[in-house]
Amino acid sequence: MKEKVLTYLEEIKSTTFDKMDDLEAFRVKYIGKKGIIPALFADFKSIAPKDRREMGVLLNDLKKATLAKVEEVKELLDNMDQYMESGIDLSLPVNEDLGSRHPLSLVRNQIIEIFSRIGFTVEEGPEIEDDWHNFTALNFPEEHPARDMQDTFFIEKSPDIALRTHTSSVQVRVMENNQPPVRSIFPGRVFRNEAISARAHCIFHQVEGLYIDKNVSFADLKQTLMYFAKEMFGENTGIRLRPSYFPFTEPSAEMDISCHICGGKGCNICKYTGWVEILGCGMVDPNVLKNAGIDSEKYTGFAFGMGIERITMLKYQIKDLRLFFENDIRFLKQFESAI
Ligand code: PHE
Repeated sequence: MKEKVLTYLEEIKSTTFDKMDDLEAFRVKYIGKKGIIPALFADFKSIAPKDRREMGVLLNDLKKATLAKVEEVKELLDNMDQYMESGIDLSLPVNEDLGSRHPLSLVRNQIIEIFSRIGFTVEEGPEIEDDWHNFTALNFPEEHPARDMQDTFFIEKSPDIALRTHTSSVQVRVMENNQPPVRSIFPGRVFRNEAISARAHCIFHQVEGLYIDKNVSFADLKQTLMYFAKEMFGENTGIRLRPSYFPFTEPSAEMDISCHICGGKGCNICKYTGWVEILGCGMVDPNVLKNAGIDSEKYTGFAFGMGIERITMLKYQIKDLRLFFENDIRFLKQFESAI
């Protein structure tokens, strides 16, 4: 009898099922009223008393194994039914095509990383701005032609609500909410009502930087930007600052980097000048500090702003800005291996 029970145990463990009907037949065969296991239990009386203990344990194991098998397979077949009903085909091959980061995200992350290494934190501000944060607090006088420098998309008139035309609006918000030292960068989307071409778009991205503390000087600005240029474009990159004008900085400058394509010799990227412009910058105008609630007698600061598209185009030699917004997979796939 012991042999028999052990054979059944093996048989039960190795039985496989395709459908519920098979499982029911299995159940009836082993534990149905006239099944094998009840019959074995009925035979129990005929076992010699000395073997009863061992056989009792074995028979109980057999019964437990059968019930466990029925439960386990029932659950499996139930799940299978659910999959069938859901229409999911589990036999289809897995799609192994991974996406890749957008080049603008790659470059934005790299800019953040470069500045975070020298202690700049990241802040953000709203894309829909009021006149105060986008213009007035930044020293753009009412009706001043400088407001036309940036063709604004207005959402509401008086009070003016618009899509921010630059990330300098975040400067004001950060200064309003924090006392110096302030050392942050603000990446984000900006909007200008410009005709879309290979060199201009109505939506683009900027990163603004702001550093305010006691004794911050133009030399600090220059060092910071030189560090950035070398980290971004390579150790041999040179920088050049040209005087410029922004209402919110005084003095103001535009920064060029030595052309990293021709090394400064002159090529069609730098239009044979050896230099390419990458950002605007300057010392924060004391009026702006005052407007944002910071003591301009005690503190000075610098600010800079750059276009992420511009940096990306230079870094990867992309000639048409529109490519960034078309999401053509053939273009995006080329950045798969970039960090
Ligand atoms: N906001 C300026 C622009 O969009 C850039 C800038 C930022 C200039 C900070 C100076 C200081 O062109």
